Amino acid sequence: MALYDMENPWGPDSDFYLALAGRPALAILDIGCGTGMMATAFARQGHAVTAVDPAAAMLDVARSRPQGQLVRWVHGLVGEVQGSFDLAVMTGHAFQVLLDDETTLAFLRAVKQRLSPGGRFAFETRNPDARIWEEWAKPLVGSSVAGATETAHVDIEKQGELVSFRSIYRFDDGTEISSRSTLRFASQATISALAEKAGFSRQIWYGDWDRQPVEAGSRELILVAGFA
Ligand SMILES: C[S@@+](CC[C@H](N)C(=O)[O-])C[C@H]1O[C@@H](n2cnc3c(N)ncnc32)[C@H](O)[C@@H]1O
Repeated sequence: MALYDMENPWGPDSDFYLALAGRPALAILDIGCGTGMMATAFARQGHAVTAVDPAAAMLDVARSRPQGQLVRWVHGLVGEVQGSFDLAVMTGHAFQVLLDDETTLAFLRAVKQRLSPGGRFAFETRNPDARIWEEWAKPLVGSSVAGATETAHVDIEKQGELVSFRSIYRFDDGTEISSRSTLRFASQATISALAEKAGFSRQIWYGDWDRQPVEAGSRELILVAGFA
């Protein structure tokens, strides 16, 4: 899990979400919070933050962060979270773990149920049109991630919207860690229709972290969803 943090440092996406929350203190729900970098950043800005993740090991790292005690950590899925929130976020492309329409719609409905009037849900997913998984095939020789001398994504398989791959980390002492993941690359049209069905009638889309509109080559599909 420390590996996850080394590979996913603070970036323009984090700035985007922090700016979206703004200054007056909000009640924020961070869904799929992972190791909690974003959740603790929100809390340091004075927001009241609840952060939920199904992975206990991720939450262990999150809880032990400096000022991790400022956040209410919940082990589980969004449906298990109590409370009402002004802003829900799902960062780090975590949305792509939702692998089909049924799961995604149930998820979006569960998020909406937890928003107060005027509340928003913001998240991003990688644009399938940019075919980013093709770049993942290149071995990252020589990169250093928490003592790992090389990382690579191998056995990349694409079936429809789903891309599966194995991530490999090799350490100087010869040990190797690998894990297999599957992510969905849903189109903007698919996500927009599901969000609408879940009640998110107001949708603002961006194609990058500078808030440019979505274009054919945009790498990100960023949605800030609200309702009347
Ligand atoms: C790529 S990480 C992103 C973590 C964090 N949001 C970030 O930006 O660094 C994906 C996270 O989603 C969590 N996750 C997996 N399935 C989930 C689900 N059904 N609902 C919410 N989170 C889930 C994983 O445990 C993991 O912590």
